[in-house]
Amino acid sequence: MDERPPSDGGDDGPRKSAKALGKAFSNIDLDGHNLPPSPAPSSPRNGKRYALATELVYTEGTDQYNASSQPIYQSATFKQTSGSGGNEYDYTRSGNPTRTHLERHLAKIMCAERALVVTSGMAALDVITRLLRPGDEVVTGDDLYGGTNRLLKYLSTNNEIIVHHVDTTDPSVVQKALSSRTAMVLLETPTNPLIKIVNIPAIAKATHEANFKALVAVDNTMLSPYLQNPLELGADIVYESGTKYLSGHHDLMAGVLAVNNAALGDRLYFPINASGCGLAPFDSWLLMRGIKTLKVRMEQQQSNALRIAEFLEAHGFRVRYPGLRSHPQYDLHNSMARGAGAVLSFETGDINISERIVESAKLWAISVSFGCVNSLISMPCRMSHASIDAKTRRERAMPEDIIRLCVGIEDADDLIEDLSRALVLAGAVNLTPNSFSAADHGKAKKVDTQSNDIF
Ligand SMILES: Cc1ncc(COP(=O)(O)O)c(C=O)c1O
Repeated sequence: MDERPPSDGGDDGPRKSAKALGKAFSNIDLDGHNLPPSPAPSSPRNGKRYALATELVYTEGTDQYNASSQPIYQSATFKQTSGSGGNEYDYTRSGNPTRTHLERHLAKIMCAERALVVTSGMAALDVITRLLRPGDEVVTGDDLYGGTNRLLKYLSTNNEIIVHHVDTTDPSVVQKALSSRTAMVLLETPTNPLIKIVNIPAIAKATHEANFKALVAVDNTMLSPYLQNPLELGADIVYESGTKYLSGHHDLMAGVLAVNNAALGDRLYFPINASGCGLAPFDSWLLMRGIKTLKVRMEQQQSNALRIAEFLEAHGFRVRYPGLRSHPQYDLHNSMARGAGAVLSFETGDINISERIVESAKLWAISVSFGCVNSLISMPCRMSHASIDAKTRRERAMPEDIIRLCVGIEDADDLIEDLSRALVLAGAVNLTPNSFSAADHGKAKKVDTQSNDIF
């Protein structure tokens, strides 16, 4: 198994002879930078590909003692066997065996040529945006994660990147924003918290037709590789926050990038090595452990989410979840993904009532983020999306009262009972002798299954 890592030695001083550099850097990228060879995805020794559930847990390591769990190489440096360097690893900013093991495993499960792991989902996006040059245009959505919005705003304010926020749920709207100046199209699907679906294949095709050099990058955080593989849908780059489903326990921050083009992988590796945002050995080990249980967690979270979405909808709330037939893009979502995920949102029609629901829930922790084994509740406009100013939120039709539920692996009946109690305490429902239904605060109504506009 070729575990050959990236390497530049950290210390760029005289100890590196030209010969050693030549050995370590066999490639030159488009901008003339020397680059190390790409580590290949790991693959089973007999070459057989298994179902994803099996691939998630199946790994082959090169540990000298055959450790079942890849050891944590908690070392910044690696001694060289000769004065001219050139060993597999020399400096952890450039490469570390624990990180390489994780990257090769991720490349395998993401069906990618190369995967890279960095310190957060936003660090992954930062690495991607370093491909951009002043004057480049980016076309992206109008319902983006707040942190993504913030980074793009920074780039448009300071780095002369022109960013077009459009409704990416309509490929014809995206098409109109594309031109030969488009360098990147940045997509999220489902969007968060409005849970709108984006047609990745249609937009990827239109983008490449408009400019064959333009890159389509997809944030796959909401679904994880277990449920969706954007590279197979036409994307050039997939990235996600490993802080969410991949790790699953909210005990680490990480970001993952994956590509199917070795040269593009090298270009993405360059800023990681140059800036040192590669994931640390301990966090790489922890993320590797989380990935092994991705299937069982996601299956449980998803089935709980469907129960809760059906419960809320049956009681008259306006619910956004692509696992519900009432979702206007149910068919589109299912044409791309293997499941609906475990994030949903609903509206009450009243900000104060929404606040009381969030505060009254006990099992549902008030927390940003999602993908954790514990269930979480939040008001995005007050928390994860507060970095988008109120005017922009209004322009993007983001309801201020919207509540986001990120469903965990607990018992579904307990979660429903706790939520019911919170709805009653908050005055969100009218009680009837045997049941309750959403109090009419103007918006808490069932969705129109025929219309896309209602979302
Ligand atoms: C959809 C989405 N993308 C990216 C990120 C950023 O990930 P991280 O917090 O790991 O930087 C988040 C974080 O919440 C997110 O929700």
